[in-house]
Amino acid sequence: MGNLRVSSMLVLSLIVGSIIAAFANNFHQDVEITWGGRHAQILGRQGSLLTLSMDKTSRGAGFESTKDFLFGRFNMQMKLIAGNSAGTVTTFYLSSEGPSHDEIDLEFLGNKSGAPYTLHTNVFSHGQGGREEEFHLWFDPTKHFHAYSIVWNPQNIIILVDNIPIRVFSNQESIGVPYPNHQRMKVYASLWDADDWATRGGRVKTDWSKAPFTAYYRNFVASSAWEMQGLSARGRQLLTWVQKRYRIYNYCNDLKRKQRHGRPPECGHGPSEQQER
Ligand SMILES: *[C@@H]1O[C@H](CO)[C@@H](O)[C@H](O)[C@H]1NC(C)=O
Repeated sequence: MGNLRVSSMLVLSLIVGSIIAAFANNFHQDVEITWGGRHAQILGRQGSLLTLSMDKTSRGAGFESTKDFLFGRFNMQMKLIAGNSAGTVTTFYLSSEGPSHDEIDLEFLGNKSGAPYTLHTNVFSHGQGGREEEFHLWFDPTKHFHAYSIVWNPQNIIILVDNIPIRVFSNQESIGVPYPNHQRMKVYASLWDADDWATRGGRVKTDWSKAPFTAYYRNFVASSAWEMQGLSARGRQLLTWVQKRYRIYNYCNDLKRKQRHGRPPECGHGPSEQQER
C-alpha cells in the first residue's frame, strides 16, 4: 500500500462551492518563525521549503501561519527525521488562542531506527482535549514527503494522510459535545524534544550524538474550502481500512479511562469495540 495514490475528490463528498485559496506555498509570506532562531530556515527563492532542526543547544523550533481561519482545508507535505528519532516530536496543528481554546493536532512521535513513528492525533474543543487516536503509518515517513491534511468544516473534522482519511471527528453538539466552530485558528508546526514521554512512554531517550535532527516542510496550502462536508462511500471504506490495520490507540476504547470518567458521549453508547492496546 506504500504507493497508494488517492485523489481527494474520490474521498470527500464535495458540495459544490467556490474554493478560495487563501495562500499557497511561499513560506516567506505565509508563516512567521516563532521560536528556535536559526534552527528554523526557509529555503529556495520562492520560499517553498522550510526546515526545522534541533540539537542540544536549541531543543527545537517552530512557526505559525500569518493568517488565521474559521474553517478550511490545510495541507502540508512533511518529511520526518530519519534514523534514530526517538524522543523527538514533529508537529503540524491548528490552534486558537485563549483559555478555552480549540486545537486539532497531528504529532509525530519519533522512534529508534527501523521502528515505526507514531502519529498521535487529538481534538480540543473549548479547552477540553483527551480525545487521542494514534496510528502507525503504512509507509516510511522519513524517506519521502507525504501529504498531511486537516479538513475543518462546521460538520466534520477530517484528518487525511496522502488523501486517505484516518480520522473523523463529527459535530455532535446536539448531544452536548463541544465542537470547534466559533474561534479562529492558526496553523502551527514545530519540532521539539519530548524524551520524557514521546517514545514508549519516555523509556527511549533522545540520542544527542545523532543531532542535529531535521524535519522538512513544503507545499503548505490553506484554503477556505469548508464546503467539503464529509466522506464519500469510498472515503468511509478507506477510513475503515486504516482504522482496522493502523490505529493503535483510540480513546473511545480505553477501558481504564472509561472506568475513571465514563464513556465520552461522542463515542456512542453501543458495546465498546475491542480494546486495541
Ligand atoms: C516505536 O516502535 C515500537 C515497536 O518497536 C512500537 O511499539 C511503538 O508504537 C513505536 N512508537 C513509539 C512512539 O514508541
